[in-house]
Amino acid sequence: MELRLQHSLLRPWRRGDERSLERHANNRKIWMNVRDHFPHPYTHTDAVRWVEHASTRLSDTVFAIIVNGEAAGSIGLIAKDDVYRKSMEIGYWLGEEHWGRGIVSEAVGAVTRYGFEQFDIVRIYADIFEWNTASARVLEKNGYRCEARLQRAVVKDGIITDALLYAITL
Ligand SMILES: CC(C)(COP(=O)(O)OP(=O)(O)OC[C@H]1O[C@@H](n2cnc3c(N)ncnc32)[C@H](O)[C@@H]1OP(=O)(O)O)[C@@H](O)C(=O)NCCC(=O)NCCS
Repeated sequence: MELRLQHSLLRPWRRGDERSLERHANNRKIWMNVRDHFPHPYTHTDAVRWVEHASTRLSDTVFAIIVNGEAAGSIGLIAKDDVYRKSMEIGYWLGEEHWGRGIVSEAVGAVTRYGFEQFDIVRIYADIFEWNTASARVLEKNGYRCEARLQRAVVKDGIITDALLYAITL
């Protein structure tokens, strides 16, 4: 599966992406906005593990964001289960050197459409840290609505902050 977009190509992770992944992912500014299971510092071993996992098990839900021919970020959907099985969660990050060019705005739109077309779901959501204005903007531009502020729900780097719950539904 490949999504050819104006600013990037979205395709499954594959062997050979490790070096560029390590270089782009090893950034505290990215880590400050994602879950703690995202490693920091981001080592070559972390990159090898991720590419192995994503390329074998997540190839229809998680994509490398290819910019200038190299894997510069990631975007994907996580299936939910039980009573939440009609929902998926969207997540993404991009290497800092490419920020502010509309790359993830476009990718979120494409992956949202892909999710609703390919999977039996009615809802896609993201919860973001209160300070993440760029991510809020990306979601709003793609029709996601802020449904709730989850007060003091998150602790990141020792800081307790609110989470904002954004969603789009069919
Ligand atoms: C959030 C992130 C994915 C955005 O990617 P991007 O490709 O730079 O985003 P885009 O260029 O498509 O759009 C960013 C939008 O946010 C706006 N923006 C960026 N920084 C902002 C700030 N500090 N305050 C307000 N708006 C801001 C931009 O102006 C743009 O909006 P516009 O098109 O209306 O001008 C990227 O910054 C990133 O990887 N951050 C770290 C990881 C992360 O936050 N992941 C998401 C976790 S929920």
